[in-house]
Amino acid sequence: MRSINQYNLTEAVKQSFRTEDGSRFKFLLEKFIDHLHDYTREVNLTHDEWMGVLNFLYDCGKISTPERHEFILLSDVLGFSALVDMINTRGGATEGSNLGPFYIDDAPEMALGADLGGDRDGVAVLVHGRVRDTLGNPLPGAVVDTWQADSSGTYPIQEQGRGQNKYDLRGKFTANAKGEYYYTTVLPKPYTVPYDGPVGRLLRAGNRHAWRTAHLHYIVRAPGMRAITTEVFFENTEYLDNDAVFGVRKSLIAKLDPVNKSDVFDFTLSKQPDVKLAFDFVLAPEG
Ligand code: BEZ
Ligand code: FE
Repeated sequence: MRSINQYNLTEAVKQSFRTEDGSRFKFLLEKFIDHLHDYTREVNLTHDEWMGVLNFLYDCGKISTPERHEFILLSDVLGFSALVDMINTRGGATEGSNLGPFYIDDAPEMALGADLGGDRDGVAVLVHGRVRDTLGNPLPGAVVDTWQADSSGTYPIQEQGRGQNKYDLRGKFTANAKGEYYYTTVLPKPYTVPYDGPVGRLLRAGNRHAWRTAHLHYIVRAPGMRAITTEVFFENTEYLDNDAVFGVRKSLIAKLDPVNKSDVFDFTLSKQPDVKLAFDFVLAPEG
């Protein structure tokens, strides 16, 4: 180890870990060390820059709470989360997109046709479609778990204690025998990711905005199928082409069509919608 230098250091660090040969952990760790050292050599990192990075990470830790995970936000704005979603999307299945920080796993179970919007302001939208497998077979019993912001871009969970219920604007719908799901809700608006912390500083340093284009969040599950976490976006809306967290995929953009008086739906709704949106979810088999 005495004749260590900037070229053999990388190997020495890798050798210092006694990790199980052939394990995934060894593979991930060694690749990480390789890339970290290569980056450092390539950019000729100065001491100030090195300390700047460490202090930035320290600040991310300091501002994080059980409700705010600044490292996830960092991953999001760097496209790291989007990349993991992309490489884990199965061929033929609906593309994955951001989970975001506002998911809770105990959303209320809702009947098909129910309305999530209640008496909130905004455009009432009918969301409907089918859940199917990659061969086109319907998946009856699939659970469509959804959550979203309201028509001013706020998640009710952010407004707890200010008269809002954290379970509002979210629910789990079970697809019927034909694999169909349908419900009404209020059309969400764009909103900003939190930018009062270190990630906000990074965005400002890069002359970037913090806006997310409007979206509906989903986790769709069915027995024997690989669950998908994704989002649905709306055609011709703001920030579609510069979403702060790179969540948009062409295949996830849905069209909003006006609902006409003459429209006949073969299902019952508890609220008359202003617009409608059709989106099918496709799940690949587990494994
Ligand atoms: C969201 O979609 O809710 C979200 C995603 C990333 C960062 C912040 C919020
Ligand atoms: Fe969101």
